This record gives sequence, C-alpha cells and structure tokens, in this order.
Amino acid sequence: MAPDAAVMEARAAAKRAKTLDELRETLARFEGCALRATATQLVFADGTPGARVMFVGEAPGAEEDREGLPFVGRSGKLLDRMLAAIGLKRGDVYIANIVPWRPPGNRTPTPQEAAICLPFIKRQIELANPDMLVCLGGPSAQALLGITEGITKARGRWFEFDTGTRTIKALASFHPAYLLRSPAAKRHAYRDFLAIKKALAGK
Ligand code: URA
Repeated sequence: MAPDAAVMEARAAAKRAKTLDELRETLARFEGCALRATATQLVFADGTPGARVMFVGEAPGAEEDREGLPFVGRSGKLLDRMLAAIGLKRGDVYIANIVPWRPPGNRTPTPQEAAICLPFIKRQIELANPDMLVCLGGPSAQALLGITEGITKARGRWFEFDTGTRTIKALASFHPAYLLRSPAAKRHAYRDFLAIKKALAGK
C-alpha cells in the first residue's frame, strides 16, 4: 500500500473505532504498516484505560514484542521505579507507544511508519481520555506535541494537547532507555516526575 493511502486508511479506521477494544481490533487487522509483518504481535497498551495520566513511548523492543505489552523490558523496569518514586504503580497509569509493532532490530521507526501509526495513537489518547499526557523521548514528543526541538530542550515544559474532545496538559520527558545510557540525566527526569505528581494533586 502506498504510504499516503495508508495514512488515509489509518485515519478513517481510527475514527471508526468507538472504544479502545475496537481500536485494538482495528489495529490488529490493519495492513497499512509494514512493521506488522516482521513483529511477533501487536503491542497495544498496559495499565488502566481511563487513568488520569497516559505515557507514550516510541516503539516496542524485543521483550515487549514477545509479551505483547509496552515497557516490560529494562526501560520498563526503570519506568516502574520512576512511577514508584511518585507513589504510582503501573495500574495507576495507562501506557502505549507511537508505533505498536516492534521495528526490526529495534531501529527507530521511520517518519513514514510513525505517520501511518499516528492516527491510531491519537485516537487511543482520545478514547483513553487521560487528564495528562507524558511523552517519553524525542520521537514521541515530536510526533504528538508537534515540536521540532530536541528532548533536552523540550523536557520539563508543559504543553497543551488537543485530544479531539478536549485540551489536556502534556509534558515531555526523557525516554527511560536514554536514562539507562545516561544516568546523569535521571535527576532531570525525576524533576519531571515530581511535576507530574504535583499536577495530579492539582498544585
Ligand atoms: N521503549 C519504548 O519506547 N516503548 C516500549 O514499549 C519499550 C521500550
């Protein structure tokens, strides 16, 4: 399928899905993204739909591909610890990725792959209806918040995100995989998570 046609089909299919279950089924049937052919399975979401905060990463890795759940590998374990630091568990939040299939060899999704998957993650956010969106890493922040600057500049700043139904707060922070490689950045990420905690408490 030509990329433009795939984006158009993705938009129409995402719009037709009226619930998160329907969206998951629609994605599982969607043939417009070539990553589906090399991935083991669809990695749709983890946590609790309807949670007040939704985290969106980049794409599943090998362990996520095996288990069918986002952020279950080393990055996910770090994310769990960061959540615990602000008193949250995985079940208190909702977690997904920009691209729901593992790119071969964990390469970065191409702009085309991200563009094809974008209508689905946007619809997923709208249907999950969180009060707050957290983009983990540059590719997520760039795709969802429309920013062009790097994550080092964008992190820690609040943005507005239009879900299609309402405007919510959105924050960009470092991707846990980056924090594993650059532990010195953890203190900035911790500050971002404290800002999430504060915002959840309405302060
Ligand atoms: N990195 C991501 O961006 N998402 C995952 O689900 C796992 C690792």
